[in-house]
Order: sequence, then structure tokens, then C-alpha cells
Amino acid sequence: MAKFFVNPANKKGHINPELQGHFSEHLGRCIYEGLYVGENNKDIPNVNGMRTDVVEALKEMKIPVLRWPGGCFADEYHWKDGIGPKETRKKMINTHWGGVVEDNSFGTHEFMELCRQLGCKAYINGNVGSGTVQEMSEWVEYMTFEGVSPMADQRKANGHEEPWTVDYFGVGNENWGCGGNMTPEYYGNLYRRYQTYVRNYKPDKPIYKICCGANSSDYNWTEKVMETCFKHPTPPHVHGFMDGISLHHYTVPGEWEQKGGATEFDEKKWFLTLKRTLFMEELISRHAAIMDRFDKDHVVGLIVDEWGTWYDVETGTNPGFLYQQNTIRDALVAGINLNIFNKHCDRVRMANIAQLVNVLQSVILTDGPRMVKTPTYHVFNMYKCHQDNELLDSFVETKEIGLEKDNMVPNLTESVSVDKDGKIHITMTNLSIDEAYAIDGEIADTVIASVKGEIVGGEIHAHNTFDAPEVVKAVAFDAVTVNGSSIKFTIPASSVLHLEVTVK
Ligand code: AHR
Repeated sequence: MAKFFVNPANKKGHINPELQGHFSEHLGRCIYEGLYVGENNKDIPNVNGMRTDVVEALKEMKIPVLRWPGGCFADEYHWKDGIGPKETRKKMINTHWGGVVEDNSFGTHEFMELCRQLGCKAYINGNVGSGTVQEMSEWVEYMTFEGVSPMADQRKANGHEEPWTVDYFGVGNENWGCGGNMTPEYYGNLYRRYQTYVRNYKPDKPIYKICCGANSSDYNWTEKVMETCFKHPTPPHVHGFMDGISLHHYTVPGEWEQKGGATEFDEKKWFLTLKRTLFMEELISRHAAIMDRFDKDHVVGLIVDEWGTWYDVETGTNPGFLYQQNTIRDALVAGINLNIFNKHCDRVRMANIAQLVNVLQSVILTDGPRMVKTPTYHVFNMYKCHQDNELLDSFVETKEIGLEKDNMVPNLTESVSVDKDGKIHITMTNLSIDEAYAIDGEIADTVIASVKGEIVGGEIHAHNTFDAPEVVKAVAFDAVTVNGSSIKFTIPASSVLHLEVTVK
């Protein structure tokens, strides 16, 4: 039996709902087809062009925040091309993603309308790589200024009287790579300059400014950017100069040229995938340790605004569209990462899985009018229980499992939180392919009244298709025994479990 302890007296931090955030780029069929089908579409039910089935599913999952328009696309996006009458909007080539024509029919107004329908926060990513300071500054003015100004007047003329709220603003994306191939010192200086003109026109809703952070284990980038940006000339640190710094890390189970497919993988690949996912723990710890040296009060958030699995594209699909299926393996990747983010909620303020629909590790796949919820969707839908909760101190006894010495993983991961009504939420992942584990748990100083459970699991390759959309879904889990503060259950192989515990 594996010992499992929760100490409700030790609250370790607030779990921002944004830890379960999402990302939508002008890439493949994410925006077009996946989210937006056009205002005049008679075949796919929609409200102002946003497909109703997808919006409803995302609302159910309580999507807290959506990042847009990229990704690499953000640093070649010129926002003025995407406003005004659709027939006069400029067409451009989407050079990063398949070289297709981007007609700009989905722009700022459409994105804000999507966020309105979803009831989620807006995270806009600005263009540093090929855009000017003026362009970035004017975009913020266009979106958020209420009074009389050239940009606010234009917004009003385009049909939106009221300013929107921009909750998060990214000053560039991957500026070490597709966003301009910069050095950290050079980018750091540009950040200082560009962010100056990202004005806060709504003092009651200040924009949370995000500085471009590292690619995976590029610790030097974090070090140099923190050094250049955090210690700016107005000490002590002023809120609104640098609120967050990003981190991108994808789970790539192989070499770039040979990552392997989403649904065809062997048991070694299963463990390699989970091992590379667990690397997120080390990444966050090490980047956070660097941040600590500059920012001991944890003012700056670590924003993991791109994460998820990246496999070879599905056979017969455009390689530039990054369309992949999603199995129980992805459910585990989601559960493991979300547990890690919870455990680091003192530093990680937002995380955005890539990407929302039809691209990489999506929660939703579409095919014409059809839609399917992936195993990853069902994990997010379970983990919504943690949103806005307090993280509790918890520990599970683990052992190493795997098939290759270099790719051993712990058999279990977990995180625990308490919600506003005092209910305790346990989420646990079992990384084994074939072994269930008996858990002998203790929630200190409580008397447990009842437990409700749900689980996503199954054979490791199991996935949903348009013809069989419910092969993987969350099902009730009630095989739990409680007695006083003791809680015992057996977590099945390759599964993600949520237990909601009511205490007396
Ligand atoms: O999510 C796909 C791409 O991955 C993004 O555009 C980019 O930021 C990252 O390299």
C-alpha cells in the first residue's frame, strides 16, 4: 500500500484558475474551422461566427483564459489588417504554418467576442519581432481606451463603443527563435522599451505584462532577461513593469524528425513521453530559483504559456497544421502537468496548453460540423475543481517504474486543494501501464463525511474518434473506503483520478 498524506492545516498558496489556461493560434484549423466558422455559415450552428458546440464544451470545462494570436504567428501579425469591414481586410501568407492565405477575417473584434462568449479572460500576444513600438502601443489603445483618441475612435467606428479588458499582454513570443532570433540582452532591452508604451488605460484593471521567457532548459535566457528587465531604473520593483516571464516546454517523445505518432506508440515510448513531461518539475524549479535571486518576494509570475505533447502529424494532413490525435497518454500528460503547476502555484500564475482545437494537444477536435472531446478535455474538465482553491500540503509514497534505466518515472503524482466550501479535492495520476496501486491515505485532523470520485482511464492507446466519440470519458469512481481521517482506494493503471472529499 502506498502511503498518502494531506495536511489541511498547511495551505501552500492560491491556485489561479489561469493555471488551466489555453492557447489559440492562427495555425492549421485552430481558429478557422475549429473556433470560427464565419457569421454567414448555415451548416455549422454558430453565434456571431463562433461555433456553438465548441463554445458550449469549453464553457463547461470552465476555460479561464485564452491566449491569441500566437505563437510564432504573433510576431508577424499586424493587428490593423484584422479590423474593419471584412471585405477590405488584407490577406497575408501564414509563413510559419503551411504557407496558407490568412484572410484576417478573425481579428481583434472576433477574438474579444469569442472571449465574451466563453466568459474567459483575454491574453493578447503582441508583435516585437516584426512590429513597431507604435503598432503595439496603438493596439493597446484601440482595445482598452475609453475616451477620445484616434484608436478609440476607430474602434467605435468599427462597431465597439466600449473598451475591452485586456487581462494579459505578451510582449513578443519566442524572441530567441521565431520571434526575431534575439539574444537575451537584446530582447531584454527591447522589452523595457516596448512595455513602456503598453499603457494602462484602465487603472482598475491593469494589464498584466508578460516578458518573453526561455525555451525549455535555457536557464541563461531567464538569468539575462531577469537581470536586464527586473532591475530596471525604478527600484523597488514597480507592479506593471514586468508582471510575468514565460516558459515554453513541449513533450516531444523522440527526435524532431521522428517524434512518433499520436496513437501508435509502444510501451517504451509511453514511459519516454511521461519522463519528458515530468521534466516540467525540474524546469519550473530551476527557472524559479533563478527568478528568486532577483525577485525574492515572488512578484513576477512564471507563465508556462506553451506546453503539451507534440507528435508527428496525422497521416494525410498538412504537416504545417500540426493536427494530432489524443489518447490516454495525453490524459496522463495533462494530469501530470496540472499537478505540477498546482504544486508550484506560488510562482506559476498561468499556464496555457497548446493548442485549444485541432492543433497539438487539443481538448477538442473538429471535422466539419462534428466535434469530439479528447481525453485531455476530460482531464481539464475534472481538474476545474482546483480553480481558485488553496493548495494543501500533500505527499504520496512512490516507486520508480519503467522499462529503460534512463526513462524511469514515479508511479504516481498528485496534488490536493481545498475549495471555498471546505471540500478537499485530490487529483492523482497512475503512470503504470498495467498495475493498479492501493493507496492508504490520511487527511490529518479531519473526520471524513463522504467522498465522490470520477476517473479518466483505460488502455493506453484509447482515444475518441468522430464515429466513436465516447470511448474515453470521465466515469464515476466510488470504490473508496473512509474511516475518520483515513481514506483508502485503489487507483487503476493508466488513469487520472479526482476525489472530492467532504469533511465533517
Ligand atoms: O504551438 C506551436 C508553436 O510552438 C508556437 O507557434 C510557437 O510559439 C512554438 O514554437
